[in-house]
Parts: sequence; structure tokens; C-alpha cells
Amino acid sequence: MPSPRIAASILAADFAAFGAECRAIEDAGADWVHVDVMDGHFVPNLTFGPQMCAALRPHVRGTMDVHLMIAPVDPWIEAFARAGADIITAHIEAGPHIHRTLQAIRNTGKKAGLAINPGTGTDAVPQLLDMVDVICVMTVNPGFGGQAFIASQIDKIRTLRGMIGRRPVLVEIDGGVTAVTAPLVVAAGADVLVAGSALFAGGKAAYAGNIAALRAAAGGGADAAGNAAGR
Ligand code: DX5
Ligand code: ZN
Repeated sequence: MPSPRIAASILAADFAAFGAECRAIEDAGADWVHVDVMDGHFVPNLTFGPQMCAALRPHVRGTMDVHLMIAPVDPWIEAFARAGADIITAHIEAGPHIHRTLQAIRNTGKKAGLAINPGTGTDAVPQLLDMVDVICVMTVNPGFGGQAFIASQIDKIRTLRGMIGRRPVLVEIDGGVTAVTAPLVVAAGADVLVAGSALFAGGKAAYAGNIAALRAAAGGGADAAGNAAGR
């Protein structure tokens, strides 16, 4: 089993030092920087807009993974693309026209992600599979970091992995990912682990150890470094 990619959610970083935090977490071994955009409407919290993403861009060497927890989504896609996102993820629950939203993301030349809340099934996914690069399985209800992992989502991960088959679509897990829950989701078919609290705990000096612990628990093992270096 290839080792999963680790996406660091800056929702758990020091909000007064985002540039330095992005550099530090990548230096410590994170593969992606995950930016949680919240609008106080689709989710009960407010975070960042496209200006923040544009400001972060020079501080992110690797993939900037932008998770839009906003509704409506479509009016903002261009702005996040211009801000330098590599992946733009929209929620299946965010509006009636997710197919159009995914088309709009792909039209910007960016990778398209589809996020699915814990209370939402996978019925629509087969119709969307050729439109997506990443499927983000929410293992908490979106809005806040530091919540408990919802174990009922493991079956959904397995179902999605089966639906994807050999298509080049990554399964990303977001919420409550720790050294305890990572092996469960990797065994079910996860390719990308988003983690906030588990990675940013303890300040900069702890980041490399936190990432190593997550990789070891996830089955990253010896090839993890080479795997990370190849991206
Ligand atoms: C929740 C966000 C997550 C969150 C993960 O709405 O989408 O990315 O920051 O944080 P942890 O790892 O603390 O559950
Ligand atoms: Zn997220």
C-alpha cells in the first residue's frame, strides 16, 4: 500500500504567522497545505478569503489545497484560482448544480475536488466521477478543527474507493485524523490525510515529529520520505 499524502490544515496553525507556519509545516514534511475557507453561512464559522490564499501562495512550495465550505460557490471559483489554489474543492451540499461547479473549477485549469459531509450519501458520485480529481470525505461535520472522528464514514471511504476503480481520483479524508484514526482510513482506501490539530500541536519544534508519527501510524514507513520527495 503506498503511503498516504499528508495535507496540513492551517486552521490549527498560529493565525498571527501563517506564512511562517506554512513554511515550517512543509519543511517538517507535509505534502500539501490545506486551506479551510468558511463563510459563516454554509458552516457556522468564518475564516479566509481569496486574498488570504494569494498572500499564502509565495509561502507554499507544494500543493495548495483549498477547501471551500461556502455557498454559493460558483461566484468565487475564479478568485480562488487566481489566488493560486492548485486544488479547489466544493461541497456536494453547497448548491443544486454541483456538476456545473466542478466544470467551472476544471475550466480554470485547476484540479477539482468534491467534498461530502458525514450526513450525505454517495448516490450522486458515479455521475460526477469523471469531473473530479479528489473526493474529500468529511469525517467531522465541517466548521471547526479539533472535533472527534466519525467512524461511520469508514464504510463510505470503502464504497468510494470501489466506485473510483482505476480512475485517477484521490480519496482525501478530512477531520479528526490522528495516529489512532489514520490506519483505519488508510485501510479503507484513503490517499490523502488532512490533519490540523494532530500536526500543529506543540509548536514548530514538534511538527516533524507529529508528521512522522502520523506517517508511521498510517503505514507510511520507510518509503514515505521518497514518496514525499517525488511530489
Ligand atoms: C473542518 C476542516 C478540517 C479541519 C481538520 O471543517 O475542513 O480541515 O481543520 O482539523 P482537525 O484535524 O483538527 O480535525
Ligand atoms: Zn478541510
